[in-house]
Amino acid sequence: MSATTTKSPGSTTTLRGSRNLDDDIEEVLLTQKDIASRVAEIGKAIENDYRGKPLALIGILRGGLVFLSDLTRAISIPHSFDMVGASSYGTSTTSSGRVQITKDVEVDLRGKHVIICEDIYDSGRTLAAIRDLLRVHHPASVEVAAFLYKKVSKRISEVEIKYKGYDIEDKFVVGYGLDYAEIYRNLPYVGVLKRSIYESTK
Ligand code: IMP
Ligand code: MG
Repeated sequence: MSATTTKSPGSTTTLRGSRNLDDDIEEVLLTQKDIASRVAEIGKAIENDYRGKPLALIGILRGGLVFLSDLTRAISIPHSFDMVGASSYGTSTTSSGRVQITKDVEVDLRGKHVIICEDIYDSGRTLAAIRDLLRVHHPASVEVAAFLYKKVSKRISEVEIKYKGYDIEDKFVVGYGLDYAEIYRNLPYVGVLKRSIYESTK
């Protein structure tokens, strides 16, 4: 993706509360119903795979929070959850290339089977960094659940995804936890953001 951004996170047009966020969406890719049924399926698959095993879901802040909160309620076997903080995008629509760990886990992961819950698998940098961070806590295993899987030509880090929600094209999407400049995370669906929102008009 070669899009550049001209808006800062404090941009008044982005933050004005009176605007309807739906107006900034080019196309809805996944409806609330699509999302709910896929999350339920992933939850059932996890239940079958981890029955009788100590399980912990680890969401990646902030985008993975929405997926984690739905997924934990779709799993009826005992498990714990926690969040780790990572930030790679800043306010742009292209990855900054650096992954900053902003919060470590606090639950004890020793001997647990860990599933990392991520909103979207893009360059793979974030997942690779979090996977390496979690291994330091001596879990029994580490797997990944990524709600969206972006079909990008140049993957930086290949990370095996055990549970995948949906494949999507290489477009900048928002909603269901995914943001642009920290906005749009609350949309209950996944949609493609209009280019005019983040592209220069000059
Ligand atoms: P990666 O490290 O390049 O795989 O990026 C993963 C992170 O970048 C995700 O957790 C998201 O926060 C963010 N990201 C990647 N693609 C998109 C997108 O299309 N919209 C919003 N955020 C995205
Ligand atoms: Mg983000």
